[in-house]
Amino acid sequence: MENTKNIDWGNLPFGYYKTDYNVRCYHKNGKWGALEISSSEYVPMHMAATALHYGQEAFEGLKAYRGKDGRVRLFRWEENARRMRNSADGVMMAEVPDELFYEAITKVIKLNADYIPPYGTGASLYLRPLLIGSGPQVGVKPATEYMFMVFVTPVGPYFKEGFKPVEVELVRDYDRAAPKGTGNIKVGGNYAAGMRPAHRAHQDGFSSVLFLDSLEKKYVDEAGPANFFGIKNGIYVTPKSDSILPSITNMSLEAIANDIGLKVERRRVPFEELETFEETGACGTAAIISPIKRIFDRVNNKSYEYGNIAGPYSTKLYITLRAIQEGEIEDKHHWTTILEGL
Ligand code: PLP
Ligand code: COI
Repeated sequence: MENTKNIDWGNLPFGYYKTDYNVRCYHKNGKWGALEISSSEYVPMHMAATALHYGQEAFEGLKAYRGKDGRVRLFRWEENARRMRNSADGVMMAEVPDELFYEAITKVIKLNADYIPPYGTGASLYLRPLLIGSGPQVGVKPATEYMFMVFVTPVGPYFKEGFKPVEVELVRDYDRAAPKGTGNIKVGGNYAAGMRPAHRAHQDGFSSVLFLDSLEKKYVDEAGPANFFGIKNGIYVTPKSDSILPSITNMSLEAIANDIGLKVERRRVPFEELETFEETGACGTAAIISPIKRIFDRVNNKSYEYGNIAGPYSTKLYITLRAIQEGEIEDKHHWTTILEGL
């Protein structure tokens, strides 16, 4: 086992850090086999696997948090399990039953318990469930065999700024997903499609991109790896779109926004409305909340600015969400699952 004593928990990036074990399961002849434990970081695969050629794959991202009380909590894992089933359905893969999903995530956390970051470091254990078409095909059709695996890695904030406001670039010349395409499920192709504009944005000093709807280029869709929200006049506004990923973080923030007295509107958000928000942010499991200080529209050479410090509502939302995840305040929505014996 690696010595985890040397990990600088407070300065972990959002990246891959080797842990000791992962878990795997195979779907053959129409049924899932038993969960297996592996200490290999590699996946032997048929060279004609549909995941490799036709992108028949989906993944998830969720976190385990060490709480103030020393206990380990999962946040709304049932929603990740449900979304992975939707993703599987969307690209015609075998679905992972919720019981198997839960067995896999709890087992892999227990096997790598030393890698769960201590409370108060800002870090957490990121879980990456992955489902791939592993069986061979050369014609474009679904595989007859699938592999489901979960690995874990301790992570810090997705945007290196943490909870400090970032600058993002509005993208008009690339699309991440088509209106009736796969934007609403978590499949790899969406992320490949976003790499070129994201790379350009990073080179130009931006932390992320913000996509517009791909049909009309009139409405805000979402950020590269996160949903978008804006706040004004006591209203939490977030885009309604068929081509964005239904974010579990955003869904939770809508509930918290409501709890703290904000009105919540999920509707189309014309990009001109960016001018009117008092606060904006990107939200997701990896990003948590990343407040946005500036959105730059390169085509129109126009900036929308929200200030260099996080706004009061974004701060309250962030603190409340983290406090629930880390067991500091009552979990009144019953979002967390405590893992016993860790
Ligand atoms: N949007 C995209 C494209 C993402 O990849 C993610 C991350 O999973 C999100 C939004 C945020 O979703 P969640 O809050 O469920 O992590
Ligand atoms: C997440 O927030 O869990 C993500 O999957 C975002 C990104 C790393 C793809």
